[in-house]
Amino acid sequence: MPTDRRQLVVIGLGYVGLPLAQAACHSGLQVTGLDISSRIVDSLNAGVSHVDDLSNDEIREMRDAGFTATTDPAVLSEADVAVICVPTPLDEAGGPDLAAVRSAVDMIAKHLHAGMLVVLESTTYPGTTDDEVKPVLEATGLKAGEDFHLAFSPERIDPGNPVYGMKNTPKVVGGYTPECTRAAADFYGLFVDTVVPAKGTREAETAKLLENTYRHINIALVNEMARFCHELGIDLWDVIRAASTKPFGFQAFYPGPGVGGHCIPIDPNYLSYQVRAKLGYPFRFVELAQEINATMPTYVARRVQDLLNDAGMAVRGTKVLLLGVTYKPDIADERESPAKPVAEALQALGAEVSFHDPHVARWHLRSGALDVVPDLDSALREAEVAVLLQAHSSYDLKAVVAGAQRLLDTRGAAPEAPHVVTL
Ligand SMILES: NC(=O)c1ccc[n+]([C@@H]2O[C@H](COP(=O)([O-])OP(=O)(O)OC[C@H]3O[C@@H](n4cnc5c(N)ncnc54)[C@H](O)[C@@H]3O)[C@@H](O)[C@H]2O)c1
Repeated sequence: MPTDRRQLVVIGLGYVGLPLAQAACHSGLQVTGLDISSRIVDSLNAGVSHVDDLSNDEIREMRDAGFTATTDPAVLSEADVAVICVPTPLDEAGGPDLAAVRSAVDMIAKHLHAGMLVVLESTTYPGTTDDEVKPVLEATGLKAGEDFHLAFSPERIDPGNPVYGMKNTPKVVGGYTPECTRAAADFYGLFVDTVVPAKGTREAETAKLLENTYRHINIALVNEMARFCHELGIDLWDVIRAASTKPFGFQAFYPGPGVGGHCIPIDPNYLSYQVRAKLGYPFRFVELAQEINATMPTYVARRVQDLLNDAGMAVRGTKVLLLGVTYKPDIADERESPAKPVAEALQALGAEVSFHDPHVARWHLRSGALDVVPDLDSALREAEVAVLLQAHSSYDLKAVVAGAQRLLDTRGAAPEAPHVVTL
């Protein structure tokens, strides 16, 4: 099999696929992006980015380095390497939805040829590469580990992270055979500083789920503590600050209005689903963490209710301004953001909800779409309660505190003041 892998096809050009394509382009590979969305393909070919982490200039640099996007799977027939970066959401019943992975694998199977390296990066349950991907590829008559290489390599992209990107974040790879691991490690070694071989595909798949489950559980721990510390009159933010001074054995996690994004609220379900489906018993830590984190938005709504109650007011008919509705600071991604259930819980109580976010112009809720308030200062003055849900770095929090009648700070980020309460 060739060791000099020049032609790469990245399937799925989103938050994961596009930075991968960029890093590979800069290392001198000939990169083609394959996506089912002609809107995304056309905009990338026109030099326009649709993800926060890449600017239009960076897309144009990629184009100059030979990158093209296409909806035509025939490009796979020339590929030395195909990497699958398509979404792995949950289905209606809360179980894994592998439809996009299956369709990507079907496309590869039609163009699979000897010597090719196929890597799955989409987050998924242990066994997917061996049990779902391999049989479809082998139905072509070619054998994994003999005629083509097959591996799983979990993505660790952290949108908006200014320090860790593709190059300096160690990359785990697990192949179907040790030779597959080596082939995948050689490929990623072209543009990633540190490649970490795992024992096999299942270990690499599970490593990703451990990372996200670990975050999910620790966030749930502090979210549960936030509730009882409030009741006990203990400042949890100060507790975490003090505990964080321990130089070993402790990592700080912070409470918030719930978990968001496409990883933390979703990925642990892939693991608990697998444990339940294969072994018949629950993954109790995950289920407990889900229960705690999922109830945070209604807890935030209740705290707004308490704040108004203390002032002799009802939620019904009260103006509540939500600040920051994306799932992370400084990005425009709203997927699974807990801001939505917070807004809907407040609306269910009769509040008049408005929002401000420097990254979102129009926000879609079940009750209809809201436009961003045109002027933050006057919106703060008008709202009986403001709720800081996401502390975007562009917020002048001193000015927010000065302008608000009352502020519930769910991020522990605002300066202290008599009319400010933290979660
Ligand atoms: N975004 C993150 O921070 C992050 C981090 C780690 C892992 N992941 C995982 O990476 C995977 C991809 O996530 P993402 O955030 O990049 O998703 P995304 O929604 O940003 O992008 C996915 C892209 O795949 C395309 N697509 C969908 N089905 C396709 C198909 N059958 N063939 C070709 N293209 C198809 C979509 O049009 C879209 O452009 C998921 O499994 C996710 O869990 C995401």
